[in-house]
Amino acid sequence: MDVKIDVLIIGSGIAALQAARLLGQQLQVQIVTKSSVDMSSSYRAQGGIAAVTKPEDNTAYHIADTLTAGEDHHEKKHVEALINDGTKIIQQFLMDDLPIDREASGEPALGLEGAHSYHRILHAGGDRTGQVFIDYLLKQLPSNVVINCYEMAYELLLNTDGACIGVLTQGTHGTKRYFAHHVIIASGGAGALYPSSTNYAINTGDGIALAFRAGAAISDMEFMQFHPSLLWCNGEAKGLVSEAVRGAGGIFVDAQRRPIMKGVHPQLDLAPRHITAYTLFKKRVTGHETYIDISAIQQFEKKFPTIAKLCADNGVDIQHGLIPVAPGSHFLMGGIIADDIGRTSIPNLYAVGEVACTGVHGANRLASNSLLEGIAFGQKMAHAILQTGCKQYNFTVIHKAHQQAIPSLLAKEHLQQTMMHALGIIRNPQDMQQFAKQLPPLQTLQHVEINGLGQQELELYMMHIVASLMVNAALTRKETRGAHIRSDKPNKDRLWAQRWIIFEHGQMKV
Ligand code: SIN
Repeated sequence: MDVKIDVLIIGSGIAALQAARLLGQQLQVQIVTKSSVDMSSSYRAQGGIAAVTKPEDNTAYHIADTLTAGEDHHEKKHVEALINDGTKIIQQFLMDDLPIDREASGEPALGLEGAHSYHRILHAGGDRTGQVFIDYLLKQLPSNVVINCYEMAYELLLNTDGACIGVLTQGTHGTKRYFAHHVIIASGGAGALYPSSTNYAINTGDGIALAFRAGAAISDMEFMQFHPSLLWCNGEAKGLVSEAVRGAGGIFVDAQRRPIMKGVHPQLDLAPRHITAYTLFKKRVTGHETYIDISAIQQFEKKFPTIAKLCADNGVDIQHGLIPVAPGSHFLMGGIIADDIGRTSIPNLYAVGEVACTGVHGANRLASNSLLEGIAFGQKMAHAILQTGCKQYNFTVIHKAHQQAIPSLLAKEHLQQTMMHALGIIRNPQDMQQFAKQLPPLQTLQHVEINGLGQQELELYMMHIVASLMVNAALTRKETRGAHIRSDKPNKDRLWAQRWIIFEHGQMKV
């Protein structure tokens, strides 16, 4: 079945909905999303959204915190656009009555998270920030926006001029071919490539994989952020325990309630995330259990209702004041190279949100900058597309000569375990090389015919593409920076600071 539309959006998180709400005022917008709208990382976001809202804070401080946390590997002009434009956009949201938590005075209640020098985290419903934001945006969608859930995009369509003109999807109604003037990928990250993650199992990096297959430029795939505190019960991760808990006074301790972060970093429990995750990981591999001591936090259930319920559902009694935690994959800094209005290396193809690599997060994202990115760059992209409009152009699909047979793939659990072993919090070249040998070559993964595969097979295929991009990038970056920590190269190398490992048309270049 063929469908013609003005704008097609893949994904339904905060960046997708922010763009759709504005685009839908003038254009016909179709959203396709692999699951339901309450199953995105945005919807799950607890801590909040970072923005300067108080006179004693300053966008220059927010920019400085972002650069420090990301260890000098940014596209600075995009960081400035994120913080300066994002601040104005959030201020407009506050005037439009976004239902955030407020003090008795009516001022926004501001939380603190890792590596921020000021309390500047807006939150809603205690720790239900993402849910409140998504519901707020959904209510504002014009009738021109149609959402199809349980439909997976698996191939981009290019025209004979090399521009993106649509996408192939697969869902409950079979295979569809969408033609659109503008195609936006806003499908989120790839946390599900790891066995323990804050992400849903659907976050398999599909957006990056399909952009790679179409030849789009992709970068920073070596930088996967691990969050230090996932609730840990019976040997399994059960969900996020927000950094906001530590901002409210929680501290990392061992089983004897000895503080873990003392002497490690001046910001202690609110050190940048790659430092807290690494410290907890090292503690755990030497046989120690790790906890957050919440005994100093008054009214925990009221402030953190989602986390209190998560603990109760998993048999953790928070009255004892200890929440067992362990690190897990959380946020991919890398992705499809895009500018602050979402443009990628392929004409008419846009990327926004976690799937994009705009250089705003550097080698380690600052806490609560991701919802800000979705809101700010989603809006900037929508305005740019509205200005461009929908011109007549060439809708002749170029048919790629896909011949190779599907290569043999690893089983999903094996892939996830190997990712953690070879591309986890600490990496060494031997394990990475070993892993790279187990994956089919990138050129094969780019060109194989995948039409006719079922959703699970497609997902596994996409996961192999993302894994392969990650391991090749991680082997190439011969230094430690932010979330990319190598045991054989334990220091930053200033020659690598402003170097990007880019994959384009299936080839890697540095
Ligand atoms: C958290 O609430 O700890 C996560 C916030 C974020 O990833 O920015």
